[in-house]
Amino acid sequence: MKPSIRPRRVRALVSVLAAAAAVAGTALLVPGSAQAASTLGAQAAQSGRYFGTAVAAGKLGDSTYSTILDREFNMITPENEMKWDTTEPSRGSFNFGPADQIVNHALAHGQRMRGHTLVWHNQLPGWVSGISDANTLRSVMDNHITTEMTHFKGKIYAWDVVNEAFADGSTQHRSSVFQNVLGNGFIEEAFRTARAADPNAKLCYNDYNIENWSDAKTQGVYAMVKDFKSRGVPIDCVGFQSHFGSGGPPASFQTTLSNFAALGVDVQLTELDIAQAPSTAYSNTVKACVNVARCAGITVWGIRDSDSWRTGENPLLFDANGNKKAAYSAVLSALAGGVPYGGGGTSTPTPTPTPTPTPPGSGGCSVKYTIASQWTGGFGANITVTNLGDPVSSWTLTWSFGAGQQVTQAWNATVTQSGSNVTARNVDYNGSIPANGSTSFGFNGSWNGSNPAPSNFALNGTACTTA
Ligand code: XIL
Repeated sequence: MKPSIRPRRVRALVSVLAAAAAVAGTALLVPGSAQAASTLGAQAAQSGRYFGTAVAAGKLGDSTYSTILDREFNMITPENEMKWDTTEPSRGSFNFGPADQIVNHALAHGQRMRGHTLVWHNQLPGWVSGISDANTLRSVMDNHITTEMTHFKGKIYAWDVVNEAFADGSTQHRSSVFQNVLGNGFIEEAFRTARAADPNAKLCYNDYNIENWSDAKTQGVYAMVKDFKSRGVPIDCVGFQSHFGSGGPPASFQTTLSNFAALGVDVQLTELDIAQAPSTAYSNTVKACVNVARCAGITVWGIRDSDSWRTGENPLLFDANGNKKAAYSAVLSALAGGVPYGGGGTSTPTPTPTPTPTPPGSGGCSVKYTIASQWTGGFGANITVTNLGDPVSSWTLTWSFGAGQQVTQAWNATVTQSGSNVTARNVDYNGSIPANGSTSFGFNGSWNGSNPAPSNFALNGTACTTA
């Protein structure tokens, strides 16, 4: 009997140890259980992200500055050195010296680079803003993009190809020499040129005040990215500058990031700074990013408060002496949460076939008019209008009836009629129609004798085809 007891005890002990080992093993695999890192870059890297800063070449010799830079940050954006006024101060004469200093520093310290920026209305030399001939400006812009991207080829993780092209408080582009001389297509032209110059760099559109989902500017940029993706225009990422007031990001920031990400682009916080740097505001900002799988990383716009372009606002994570501020710890702990980065590469999307193809650049609209029901003397109709031109923020659809029909009541539009001419206007919640987007409304009407469908629709004065 004795021999039979001992093996049983041994087996029991072995299974207890195995269970303990299994528990320990499981614990090691639980996401987020990795030991907290002690620097911003290392903590971001645990979820596959980066943490970057803007750098000024002239400060690399300041040892307080470069010590923090190399300890905390694994992505660098040149604050000014890659802008047009520095890189091509006169036509065809390029100066990459200051930017090379930064790129060489990054290469020597294992940091990646964001390129900022190729096409922007600011820090643009006068010789460019004075060009009024479209062919000249197009070749100057394309040459600038190609020459600068080729110089840094293979050394740039992502380029801000076009910066701040949209107008504040609007879904439309701002006025600039590029917009005014080349028209809406200049952004697409820049991205196509950029892809050809360095196919391995991510290509970003970068802007400010696009963090709040309901803002017109956010909607305008969103419509552009959606349109680019549907037509195969190369774009890989959207940069949200994130220059915030002391209240921090808008409540919808994470929603905005997710909605853009759902279009198939990475999102990045590219120039973060927050007036007075409240810890909660910083923490909320970081959480909005790390909760979105396609949020690739965060860049703050400078290291110490004394390095900030926002003089007197103390918006950064280190004080003038290089000491960590309270917001630093808030950022470090927020970086430990969220979901791992799961982003995409630089492939050019395959255009989604459109059911009713139109010649490129023709714009216009398409209308589907359906009589949903009809009875003696009365009928109900639905209209879906598809915007084939640039995004609109308000719309008017006009048509005329051919057989004396009269609108009696409408929904999702305000409809008026004068003689046979009908005018339908958007209501306050459906004024925006992005490029290739649609909106629908309906009405009841009266008829007598016959009730033919109208065919002469126009959207904001442009004739539509009927589907
Ligand atoms: C700022 C720099 O920080 C300043 O040094 C310079 O004088 C002006 O530009 N949006 C951008 C950045 O895209 O390039 C700007 O950087 C800040 C606003």
